[in-house]
Amino acid sequence: MELKNKIAVVTGANKGIGLECVKMLLEKGATVYGICRSGCSLQHEKYHCLHADVGNQAQVDAVMDGILHTHGAVDILINNAGLGYFGMCEELSLEQWHEMFNTNVSGIFYFTRRVLPGMKKQDSGHIVNIASIAGLEGYQQVSGYCATKFAVRGFSDALYKEVRDFGVKVTCVYPGSVKTDFFRHSANIKAHDNMLMPEDVAAQIVYALESPANYHPVNLEIRPLKPRG
Ligand SMILES: NC(=O)c1ccc[n+]([C@@H]2O[C@H](COP(=O)([O-])OP(=O)(O)OC[C@H]3O[C@@H](n4cnc5c(N)ncnc54)[C@H](OP(=O)(O)O)[C@@H]3O)[C@@H](O)[C@H]2O)c1
Repeated sequence: MELKNKIAVVTGANKGIGLECVKMLLEKGATVYGICRSGCSLQHEKYHCLHADVGNQAQVDAVMDGILHTHGAVDILINNAGLGYFGMCEELSLEQWHEMFNTNVSGIFYFTRRVLPGMKKQDSGHIVNIASIAGLEGYQQVSGYCATKFAVRGFSDALYKEVRDFGVKVTCVYPGSVKTDFFRHSANIKAHDNMLMPEDVAAQIVYALESPANYHPVNLEIRPLKPRG
């Protein structure tokens, strides 16, 4: 897809992978709606920051109502917002479990169901879901987060088969560890320079978005190499 003048929605846009996606899409000439729960610092004539908790359906519907009223349809949805709580299974609180599922899984459904009718109608669109390598294999003390990301993988795999005959692409992204704020809830892992950088992941997402009309990367697993210099 040629990205210039396309309409993109990116969730979790105020930092990390989401912010890098926003910047790269703006560089390519897209109009970008960033969905943020908190602070929006980016200023750009084609950037619009909207506030919503992605796990709150009423808030998602309110922002999507506005975007669809203005544009009719969106071309790109990047379901990026997410978080992880870690620890032994019995130590996870109910609040942590539900927050992870509301944000990482239900949030994707809430946005996807709103963009699909317009994408199908225009016979074009691309939905990118950010899973994790924690959606490919289990890790000790990561049970709840792994469960959400396995759900993202299942949702994405079913969805791509469901919508490809309508001209709509679905790509699920599985990054290894990325140097962002994500590890703030982890007692054992701290972000460091040997991890992927958020711009590495964003570059792969843009690569997927720019794929020609007749195919798309369905699954993108991205892993870091050995420590840098
Ligand atoms: N970092 C990694 O190692 C890694 C690896 C694989 C996959 N991922 C996935 O990549 C995605 C982005 O994470 P990141 O590494 O960029 O982490 P990050 O820097 O912590 O950014 C996460 C973003 O999601 C937003 N968010 C969280 N809960 C939200 C909610 N309920 N409603 C709206 N926005 C919400 C955050 O907003 P606030 O600032 O308001 O919290 C923030 O903008 C997540 O889905 C994560 O699971 C990360």
